[in-house]
Amino acid sequence: MTTTHSAVDVIRAKRDGGVLSDEQIDWVVDAYTRGDVADEQMSALAMAIFLRGMTAAETARWTRAMIDSGERLTWPTGRPTVDKHSTGGVGDKITLPLAPLVAACGAAVPQLSGRGLGHTGGTLDKLESIPGWRAALSTAEIRDQLASVGVVVCAPTVGLAPADRKLYALRDVTATVECVPLIASSIMSKKIAEGAGALVLDVKVGSGAFMRTLSEARELASALVAIGDEHGLRVTALLTDMSTPLGRAVGNAVEVAESVEVLRGGGPPDVVELTVALAAEMLSLAGVPADPAAVLASGQAYETWRAMIAAQDGDPDAALPTPAHVHVVPAPRAGVVARLDARSVGIAAWRLGAGRARKEDPVQAGAGVVCLAKPGERVDAGAPLFELRTDTPDAVAGAVEALADAVDIADSAPEPTPLVVETIHGAR
Ligand code: URA
Repeated sequence: MTTTHSAVDVIRAKRDGGVLSDEQIDWVVDAYTRGDVADEQMSALAMAIFLRGMTAAETARWTRAMIDSGERLTWPTGRPTVDKHSTGGVGDKITLPLAPLVAACGAAVPQLSGRGLGHTGGTLDKLESIPGWRAALSTAEIRDQLASVGVVVCAPTVGLAPADRKLYALRDVTATVECVPLIASSIMSKKIAEGAGALVLDVKVGSGAFMRTLSEARELASALVAIGDEHGLRVTALLTDMSTPLGRAVGNAVEVAESVEVLRGGGPPDVVELTVALAAEMLSLAGVPADPAAVLASGQAYETWRAMIAAQDGDPDAALPTPAHVHVVPAPRAGVVARLDARSVGIAAWRLGAGRARKEDPVQAGAGVVCLAKPGERVDAGAPLFELRTDTPDAVAGAVEALADAVDIADSAPEPTPLVVETIHGAR
């Protein structure tokens, strides 16, 4: 039988810098999910955790309690299962080519994904720009598709970590999102409940990321890996650069189009490089000996993509939505692009309608920014630098303003910087 704790005692203990017991954590997460602990009490506790932190043991237990608040999925596919989670970036469409690539290599990929909020995009918003494509699948549909196609990218099922769904919404309105133990337990509770045997984390670092400095990204990556270890998951974190957008396209339909280019053997080199690097890490953790670069070049990943889209009622051959209005921003001078700031481009795309300010807002499928010159590329004065796409021309001025300090153009090329900055391996 669960010991009943007073919410006030649990809040007070954390407020005063104490370490919560396993029983206190289990009780408060369960009672909050059932509605016995009120939102205002959980808000106070979240703020106390934000200010006082949680130990690794508390974070692991908090994660377990959130997993236990709902269902834990299982995938009897006969193939090893592996997933990837990105902490979110600008132009981060990597799931789109990566998931079918890893499936084409022989692993099964059940990837429950999210929608965008703020300046980073969401995988489901991007895929929903494909006519007919359906994000909401039942557990039985996910299981069938995983067996037949080997890959599913869809919305989380309603029974998955309901404690996190409730708590994340509360944190969003109480300034308690940016807290490593709460972020790490939130991400890992969903990923562990999702039931894949292995997980690769793409922890973004730089201006367009949640974590802007290497030390912050390292702290989050280590917390995520520690939770994975504690729960017996094979896990690796790659810290990857998010100071500049990935690829040229930032938005929804434009990112799908760029992902299809990658799957057909072309596409921007940084998107190809990161896709192959993450695939190699996922296949290694899953114990599948395959060469992802060769499988990508063979066209098999593209065929798997088509099957994945069609299985979710999407038409892989349909024309993607186009914007009502396109505005071109010219280069102010000639030279080489020395810096292209990810956050500014993300904000511009968001203002154009590609992202949402509140969870319930719609997004424009055709909106976004195309970066026509990336760092290291030469431009002439007056040549097109950005293409701004939107259905709402009134939004252009705000996007242009967001891009005012986004680019440095210099006389010579900058030193190239690595895309994969660091790797943190789990215990298994
Ligand atoms: N993403 C999540 O799923 N949870 C957080 O707390 C932050 C980002």
